[in-house]
Amino acid sequence: MTDMTEHSPVTQAAAAAVNATPSPVLPDAQTVTQVTHWTDRLFSFRVTRPASLRFRSGEFVMIGLMGDPDPKTGKQKPLLRAYSIASPSWDEELEFYSIKVQDGPLTSKLQHITPGDQIILRPKPVGTLVHDALLPGKRIWFFATGTGFAPFASLLRDPQTYEDYDQVIITHTCRDVAELEYGRQLIDSIRSDELLGELIGADNLAKLTYYPTTTREESPKMGRITALLQDGTVFRDLGIDTITPETDRAMVCGSIGLNTDLKDVLEGFGLEEGANSEPKHYVVEKAFVG
Ligand code: A2P
Repeated sequence: MTDMTEHSPVTQAAAAAVNATPSPVLPDAQTVTQVTHWTDRLFSFRVTRPASLRFRSGEFVMIGLMGDPDPKTGKQKPLLRAYSIASPSWDEELEFYSIKVQDGPLTSKLQHITPGDQIILRPKPVGTLVHDALLPGKRIWFFATGTGFAPFASLLRDPQTYEDYDQVIITHTCRDVAELEYGRQLIDSIRSDELLGELIGADNLAKLTYYPTTTREESPKMGRITALLQDGTVFRDLGIDTITPETDRAMVCGSIGLNTDLKDVLEGFGLEEGANSEPKHYVVEKAFVG
């Protein structure tokens, strides 16, 4: 026998820990199939999808990795965070879009995954950025900053989004142009991919409007989305009427600051916040930041 692990002494504490908690990894492990690094702060990846996992486009799940063993007990605990599923509900795999934080407990490690690696995925999807939480309307706005684009990457590839509304407007605001790239390519693929085009339909695709802005690096459209809504720039740029509770529905996903400020803007237009249990005009969720 040359396999050292076969002969490694097992401490009583470690054995007790193993016996007390059957390995939490195995039942919920999924395999990484693809990883794309967009900038030194952003990456996306795809993993296998459990056959039994059903979700509504826009929902999130808990995903992560095993943490380091506890120095005293040898016990490892899963390190999990809430991640919006970026792929649509019909996709056979699951996609996620993540920030990389160099000293972040999870993303400092997660950013190094490569195809073939395993991650933990708890198959219990939940969330408020779902069509069920909104009353019927004519226009739907998806307001994203940073990695807040993720739930909309799912919803924008879901035919229901286009069937439910006459116009679908996605705004994405980032500090720099490079941070818009994941979203820009997603929009391009929706417009040019044959399979997606067929699934969503040409008439439906014509309903899609993409409005990217940057706040720190020069780009064709600059400014915080809150300011661009308040001074009417967005409506002038798109040649559309202002937001009203009769016609407009909105989903918001960004930092806590963005969410709070945008809620005020939307309430200023007369919109009220909805929930799964009480659908109204807009819904909000915090984008994953660590
Ligand atoms: P800014 O550069 O002016 O802070 P972050 O990377 O910090 O999450 O920010 C993503 C984008 O969201 C940035 O363009 C940032 O603009 C914008 N942003 C952050 N906070 C707010 C807010 N409270 N209202 C509007 N936009 C915001």
